[in-house]
Amino acid sequence: MKSDSTLIIYAHPQTKGHCSFILDNVKKYLKSKKIKHELIDLYKIKYDPVLKSEEHYSAGNNFVSSQNKKFQKSISKADKIIFIYPVWWGSMPSILKGFFERIFVSGFAFKFSKKGIPVKLLAGKRALVFMTTGSPTIFAKLFLGNRHKKMIKFHILEYCGIKTKVVQFGNARHLDQNKSKLENGVRKALDSFF
Ligand SMILES: Cc1cc2nc3c(=O)[nH]c(=O)nc-3n(C[C@H](O)[C@H](O)[C@H](O)COP(=O)(O)O)c2cc1C
Repeated sequence: MKSDSTLIIYAHPQTKGHCSFILDNVKKYLKSKKIKHELIDLYKIKYDPVLKSEEHYSAGNNFVSSQNKKFQKSISKADKIIFIYPVWWGSMPSILKGFFERIFVSGFAFKFSKKGIPVKLLAGKRALVFMTTGSPTIFAKLFLGNRHKKMIKFHILEYCGIKTKVVQFGNARHLDQNKSKLENGVRKALDSFF
């Protein structure tokens, strides 16, 4: 059963910078709309992203730590999930990749039918992904096939049934020059998400 709650998953070690500015704006927006939320700040809690042997589900192991069970509960409870992270080497920071590896496990996020077809277990939820890149947005579109966007949307979230919108803020090199673009972009994206 779905409840009306929003989860923010934040993956950046700094408290000053584009991602942190986006997080502040998201929090302000939620407060102004009286939308309650839970925040998982992966660096702040020093989340351990390393998948353990006993958690390796494709080898038949299914241990889930109590911390990860708690995060699975938060994900189950949330009908909307907001991710905020910088693109590092064409992908998400390892801390977030490890979060998916350890938490979005078979039997929780997806399973295989008897015929071997993947079944989406998180259907009905929606995600909004804010990612920042040092290079211009058009660069990744023209030369890299937008793989950084496709990876989280198709390989992870929509594979598990979470309908996903990805918003990229490019040229994220000088925060002072980007603040109004970020403020407007975040507000616009949140207006259509909620
Ligand atoms: C380890 C590392 C890898 C990076 N890889 C990329 C990349 O693949 N593509 C890109 O456009 N920018 C890359 N960048 C730049 C970051 O995306 C950019 O600094 C960040 O999005 C700015 O947000 P922030 O101010 O919150 O850190 C990289 C930066 C670091 C530190």
